Amino acid sequence: MKPAISVGVIGCGYWGPLLLRNFKNLSNCNLKAVCDVSEARLKHLRELYPDVQGMTDHEEFLNGLGLDAIVIATPVKHHYSLAKASLLAGKHTFIEKPMASSSAECEELIEIAERKGLVLMIDHTFLYSSPVRKIVEIVQAGDIGDIRYINSRRLNLGLFQKDINVAWDLAPHDISIILHILGEFPVALNCQGNAHVTPHIEDVTNMSLTFRQKRFATIQSSWLEPRKVREMTIVGTRRMIVYDDLQTSEKIRVYDVRVERPPHYDTFAEFHYSYHYGDSYIPYIQQEEPLKAVCQHFVDCIENRTKPISGGTEGLEMIRILEAASASLKANGAPVTFSGFSKGAPVPEPAKVLRVVHAREAAGG
Ligand SMILES: NC(=O)c1ccc[n+]([C@@H]2O[C@H](COP(=O)([O-])OP(=O)(O)OC[C@H]3O[C@@H](n4cnc5c(N)ncnc54)[C@H](O)[C@@H]3O)[C@@H](O)[C@H]2O)c1
Repeated sequence: MKPAISVGVIGCGYWGPLLLRNFKNLSNCNLKAVCDVSEARLKHLRELYPDVQGMTDHEEFLNGLGLDAIVIATPVKHHYSLAKASLLAGKHTFIEKPMASSSAECEELIEIAERKGLVLMIDHTFLYSSPVRKIVEIVQAGDIGDIRYINSRRLNLGLFQKDINVAWDLAPHDISIILHILGEFPVALNCQGNAHVTPHIEDVTNMSLTFRQKRFATIQSSWLEPRKVREMTIVGTRRMIVYDDLQTSEKIRVYDVRVERPPHYDTFAEFHYSYHYGDSYIPYIQQEEPLKAVCQHFVDCIENRTKPISGGTEGLEMIRILEAASASLKANGAPVTFSGFSKGAPVPEPAKVLRVVHAREAAGG
């Protein structure tokens, strides 16, 4: 039997304890320690998990316990420094989304992980969720035809963050799902928004991503809405999917609806759009906590020395998009384009000039 992977979690506020519980329950994992700057958080966790060591000193946590892997769930501004220290200490490293505060930081982390042969995984949680996996399966089977556009809304009242705006907080979920479904990087984006409550921190944003072949995706993110909404619509040429993550058992509905133009007509009187209304169906989805699959995937990647579905490259792609969104916000929603991206090559920096080179085109991706 392989020895269990020993794991430590740093940052135990809202999200850290959920990771902690899931790592604790994995059979091939030994959750050994937690670290937080807050004694109050440690006290609470010691009561819940008396057999797990709790400490405030991250130097000792990283270097003194012989851990195999470190899980970072602190506010984003600490991700880079903690992940760098973790990788340099020779630990496989898991970072909460978004990976870091800048693409330069991501590039450095990717380089260190590669040089040291360590697993670097970013928690793009929804890629591991059963509904998203089902949607990808339906799309890849060609059931909905070619995707025309995707529309995503993630709205609620709060939780207001102090160090990042709502696009950096909520849109990573939508961006990761959209890139995964479409399998390509956008060629351009624009983003508009406003800071209504905290000065300079946008609490409402509307992002629009443009892909090749006129495909696009829109992402609406808000901390300033009366109702919680977690909804995505994927419109294909043959069918359409509505994914409502707030539903308990019927999260995905596939609609057999489409509109077609007549192939040819002689007079305007003969011209009629053809509306097709077929049956809608609800695919069966196995109920599973996505975070359990996330944690299992990290441990499996360490054991098998495989690349995570959401590794450093995917983390960097996300940060490039968020940086471009911030640049567009600053320019009142002006478009930002990406140039010169091919699969396997570095993720492009947003171009200052509006020159569009198709993402991943060179690789035929
Ligand atoms: N994947 C998801 O769906 C999801 C959901 C929520 C949050 N997150 C991510 O999880 C991370 C944490 O978010 P949160 O909402 O739990 O934040 P939080 O503020 O509730 O908790 C952060 C914790 O980190 C601790 N901390 C801060 N600096 C530290 C340091 N230098 N060393 C050790 N501990 C430190 C704080 O004391 C606090 O307990 C963020 O990156 C966030 O984006 C992900």
